[in-house]
Amino acid sequence: MAKGETSEKTTPSISAQPRLHQRAREIQAYGTVSHILPLELEEPVRLEMTAQLNQLLADTITLRDLYKKSHWQVAGPTFYQLHLLYDKHFDEQVELVDSIAERVQLLGGISIAMAPDVAEVTQIERAPRGREEVPVQLSRLLDAHQVIIRDTRKLARRASELGDDGTNDLLVSEVLRTNELQVWFLSEHLVDVPLVEAEADDRRKSA
Ligand SMILES: [Fe+2]
Repeated sequence: MAKGETSEKTTPSISAQPRLHQRAREIQAYGTVSHILPLELEEPVRLEMTAQLNQLLADTITLRDLYKKSHWQVAGPTFYQLHLLYDKHFDEQVELVDSIAERVQLLGGISIAMAPDVAEVTQIERAPRGREEVPVQLSRLLDAHQVIIRDTRKLARRASELGDDGTNDLLVSEVLRTNELQVWFLSEHLVDVPLVEAEADDRRKSA
């Protein structure tokens, strides 16, 4: 444009060409909460809750993925029942992931989402890429549930103390109860009872 020339205000030309490959600055940084939300929850409360919920979210995403890994890689005589059970639990964990992530967002925070970020944050032990036998699969899943259950109870109590009843309700009614039930279903597979022939009853023999 020549010196002194003023730019004319032109209407943007209409084009059917999609505007591809766009990048821009973030509109909100991870670890912050937006402040103008009429939730009657002070910013420090929402900061603490969203930080703790993100930890729980990272662990729940990891457990969800551990279920799919187990669903694909399970082997042996219990293949069919475990293949189905693992997928049922996966679906239930998918629901929990969504509920926790949306709780973080509605509190004004930013939910952790992508695999590399989740991998940095989760407390759940990393499983190998290779296939493992059923008792190991079950043990890994139970260990992951244990981490989540411990933290969920602690966080539910803290949410209650801070007056965040919505978070407390989500944690107790959805996260805790679902995880407890799944623990029961998994644990029963690790009870070593005979499959075909019952052990002899000594009392009957000696009578
Ligand atoms: Fe499948």
